Amino acid sequence: MTRVLVTGGAGYIGTHTCVELLARGYEPVVVDNFVNSTPEAIRRVSRLTGRTLTWYEGDVRDTGKMAHLLGKHECRAVIHFAGLKAVGESTERPLDYYSVNTLGTHALASAMLDAGVHQLVFSSSATVYGEPVFLPYTESHPLQPTSPYGRSKQAAEMLLNDIAASGAMRDIAILRYFNPIGAHPSGLIGEDPNDVPNNLMPYVAQVAVGRRPFLNIWGNDYDTPDGTGVRDYLHVVDLARAHVLALDRFRHTHGPVTLNLGTGHGSSVLDVVKAFEEASGRRIPLRFEPRRAGDIAAFWADPSLAEETLGWKAENTLEDMCRDQWTWQSRNPLGYEAA
Ligand code: NAD
Ligand code: WQD
Repeated sequence: MTRVLVTGGAGYIGTHTCVELLARGYEPVVVDNFVNSTPEAIRRVSRLTGRTLTWYEGDVRDTGKMAHLLGKHECRAVIHFAGLKAVGESTERPLDYYSVNTLGTHALASAMLDAGVHQLVFSSSATVYGEPVFLPYTESHPLQPTSPYGRSKQAAEMLLNDIAASGAMRDIAILRYFNPIGAHPSGLIGEDPNDVPNNLMPYVAQVAVGRRPFLNIWGNDYDTPDGTGVRDYLHVVDLARAHVLALDRFRHTHGPVTLNLGTGHGSSVLDVVKAFEEASGRRIPLRFEPRRAGDIAAFWADPSLAEETLGWKAENTLEDMCRDQWTWQSRNPLGYEAA
């Protein structure tokens, strides 16, 4: 059994990845400080998989603790999800974002070297690209992130690439996620934002379930087919699978790699609303509002390098994403809180 330390493993993408890891013969060891999650999410993963998960409460910046856990469980690899991810909040709390996302990655990498662990999969984001110079974004698109969040991820990427170049750590996969949405089809795990959701999909789902009266659409005057923003939404289970494939690859191919994870297709806000209405049978009342500061009109991925490198391709459609998001939201209208 190959054990893998999963930082931030109680979060949205982390829980879905733990399910896929268990299905493919890996044993996740979760560490999370629960700043944006709850141990209930880990219990749900256990219920879903019929397996007991090993987990610890801890901060990824605690190098000593990370090195201890890596040694104690004889982990072969690390998947590093722990991070802060709210773009707006990052402009108000840049110190926290650099501390967790950049220094946290530094602390974790140090712990890995102390413990002799040389395989790392890192959560980066399409937000590192910034205003598109060309589309779709390829991995060689210039990096000009427009928020402290994006720059904290770019800085972590730079650090990891420098560690790989020094020869100190051999196998690093930097994965740049586009817009993950949806949930495990079981309806047992899903995204559970703490406050008012910033992101489109959880907001739409909360309107559908009656927690919020209407959706604000931030801008309908973009240069896009229907005037609303266009993004590359991908199913969180497809995203989770890519992490397992990145670990599998380390068995035979070495060296650092940076990969876009998206479908290669853009959908507008109105496309998402329509698909969600069909999946849920609920109407989503809308209000058109001015553009949100800092938003980009449209971007989507060129995911061909991920297919070439990992044999990975997103399989689920927007309809699948909306169906599974609705199963999760309708069965857990208040998220994990009620449990
Ligand atoms: P999430 O908030 O659900 O999960 C992150 C987890 O990390 C949470 O459980 C949180 O409690 C934990 N955490 C935060 N700070 C920590 C610390 N100092 N020590 C230990 N644990 C800590 O977010 P997510 O959507 O699952 O995102 C996972 C990763 O993917 C993040 O690094 C995020 O920046 C990145 N990412 C997310 C998206 C997205 O749209 N969801 C897109 C691109 C990249
Ligand atoms: C999608 C579209 C909005 C909410 C952010 C981060 C990115 C990544 C994913 C972590 C846009 C519109 C939204 C609403 C709306 N996270 N919208 N009404 O902005 O592409 O990306 O989350 O790495 O880094 O920047 O995603 O879901 O917020 O917005 O009209 O209530 O939906 O304007 O066009 P975004 P999003």
